[in-house]
Amino acid sequence: MRMGASPLVSANVAVASRWLTSHDRTRPVSSSLGVGRPSGSKHVNRMKDLPRTLTTPSGVDLGPVTSVADGASRSIVLVTRSSRFHGFVVRRGNALYGYVDRCPHAGLPLAQALDQFIAADGRHIQCSWHGALFEPDTGLCVGGPCVGAHLQPWPLKTIDGHIFTA
Ligand code: FES
Repeated sequence: MRMGASPLVSANVAVASRWLTSHDRTRPVSSSLGVGRPSGSKHVNRMKDLPRTLTTPSGVDLGPVTSVADGASRSIVLVTRSSRFHGFVVRRGNALYGYVDRCPHAGLPLAQALDQFIAADGRHIQCSWHGALFEPDTGLCVGGPCVGAHLQPWPLKTIDGHIFTA
């Protein structure tokens, strides 16, 4: 599903499965969705050494839609042999919004605590560093030090109740 107010859509599941079955391919390695958390410090250290990318290939299965509670958010990391990607997903009813985990104010990851991207008002996305507030459906900053800037969308879609990169 494209970020924004796009409805959930379906696509070809076979496209996604190839990314999950090969060691050479992109696969989720750290996610509160429960799809492949790193199991050891050696793996985590290797991941930190990889350069960061702001885009992902299409068709990566990120887990079931229901793994993101309505009104909540989840952090997701995807790793290949050559790069790592950090993003997050926000759910509002049947709508899912994905963004790159990088604040337009200072380029930092928004959340300092795992999965904590939602402001106390329960409505906005909030950066934990200097309090920037973002609309969940557009990524537009509406409060804080970078008003008018946008979070970078992370295109997603759903297939049979699972979230996939688009
Ligand atoms: S880094 Fe996000 S508000 Fe400053």
